[in-house]
Amino acid sequence: MSEKIEGFREPIYVTRPVFPTIEEVTEKLEDIWRAKWLTNNGPQHHKLEEELTEYLKVPYLNLFNNGTIALMVACQSLRLMGDVITTPFTFAATPHVLSWNNIRPIFCDIDPVTMNIDADKIESMITPQTTAILAVHVFGTPCDVEKIQSVADKYGLRVIYDAAHAFGVEIDGKGIGNFGDISMLSFHATKLYHTVEGGALVHKDKNLKERIDLLKNFGIKNEEEVVMPGINGKMNEIQAAVGRIMLGYVEGEREKRIALGKVYGEELGEVPGITLMPKAGGNVRLNHQYYVIRIEEEAFGCSRDEVYDRFKEYNVYARKYFHPLCSEYTCYRQLSSAAQGKLPVAEKVGREVLSMPMYGALAAEDVRRICRILKSFYGKK
Ligand SMILES: Cc1ncc(COP(=O)(O)O)c(C=O)c1O
Repeated sequence: MSEKIEGFREPIYVTRPVFPTIEEVTEKLEDIWRAKWLTNNGPQHHKLEEELTEYLKVPYLNLFNNGTIALMVACQSLRLMGDVITTPFTFAATPHVLSWNNIRPIFCDIDPVTMNIDADKIESMITPQTTAILAVHVFGTPCDVEKIQSVADKYGLRVIYDAAHAFGVEIDGKGIGNFGDISMLSFHATKLYHTVEGGALVHKDKNLKERIDLLKNFGIKNEEEVVMPGINGKMNEIQAAVGRIMLGYVEGEREKRIALGKVYGEELGEVPGITLMPKAGGNVRLNHQYYVIRIEEEAFGCSRDEVYDRFKEYNVYARKYFHPLCSEYTCYRQLSSAAQGKLPVAEKVGREVLSMPMYGALAAEDVRRICRILKSFYGKK
C-alpha cells in the first residue's frame, strides 16, 4: 500500500452541482418571460409543487426559498417552544434554527453505525420543558423513525425531521416525508436534486399546508388581513423552473453515484481502520448523495486530519462533515448537554469522518485513483 501516486491536475472537490443544459433553462426562462410572473406562487411554482408531491410520495408539500427558512417555519407552524432534543452531528442550520425560534437545543448522542440521533438515548433526556425532537437523516440514512415516534407519542412530543440530505429516500416504498409531523428538504445547489437554492416542507396535514403558506408569505391572508407574524420564505419562478428541469436529472445522477459508491466499496472495503458508508437496513431506498468514510487512527495508522491534509497535496479536497460538532460551537458549548464527555459517540465520529468526492461527473477511474492515494497513506504517521 505504499506506491507513490500522481496527483490530479485539476482540483477534485467533494461535490459538483448538476447543471442542466443552457437550452433547457432558456426555454423555461422564455415561458416565464411570456407569463410575466417572477415570484409569489406563479405557474412554475404551482407545477413544481404538484410534481414534487408526486415524486416524493407525500400528501402535502410547501416550497421555500431555502431549507433553513423552511425549517424555521416548521418550528413556527407547530408553535414549538422550550427545549428541543436534537443531534450535535449535523450542519449548523439545524441547531441555529432552534435558536432563532428562541428554543434551546438539547444535544443527544448519536448511533455509532448510522451516525443519526440515538433513539435509545432520547427518552432519558426528556424534561417538562421538552416540546419536540428534531432529528436529522444524516447523509440520507433514515433515522429509526419508529422508535422516535414511539418515544414522542409516549411523552406527547412533536417530531420534525431535517431531511436536507434525504431527497427521494423511501422506507418500505413510503416517501421519507411521511414520518414525523413535518420534514424539511434542502434543494441547495450541492444536493442530489436542486433548485439552485431552495427547499420544502412535507407533511400529512391540509391545515398545516395552509398555515405554512401563510407563514412563508409574511402572514398575509388577503389584501385586508395579516393574520400571523410570517417571514419571506417564497421560492421564485426561476428557482421553480430550474427545479422542474432538474427532476429529469435526479434518477440519472443517482444511478451514477450508486456506481461510484460501488467503486469506493470495492477499493476500500478491506482496508484496516476504514469504515464504509453504512448500508441501508430493511427495505430502504437510499439516494446515494454522499459517500462518507470513517478513519480510525489506531488501525489505519494515520488520522482523519492527516488524511484530509495529505489529500490536498494530490489536489483532492475531501470535507470533514461534520466537524466541529454543533455542540462544540462557541454559541452552544456552554449548554449542559454539550459538556465534553457527554456525547462520546459523536465526539469520536466527528474526529473520524471524511466525506469523499461524490458526483455523477466524476469518473470511476478517478475514484480508483483517489482510493489508491488514500491507501498510500496507510500506516504512515
Ligand atoms: C443537515 C442540513 N440541514 C440544513 C441545511 C440547510 O439547507 P439550505 O442550505 O437549503 O438552507 C443543510 C445544508 O445545506 C444541511 O446539510
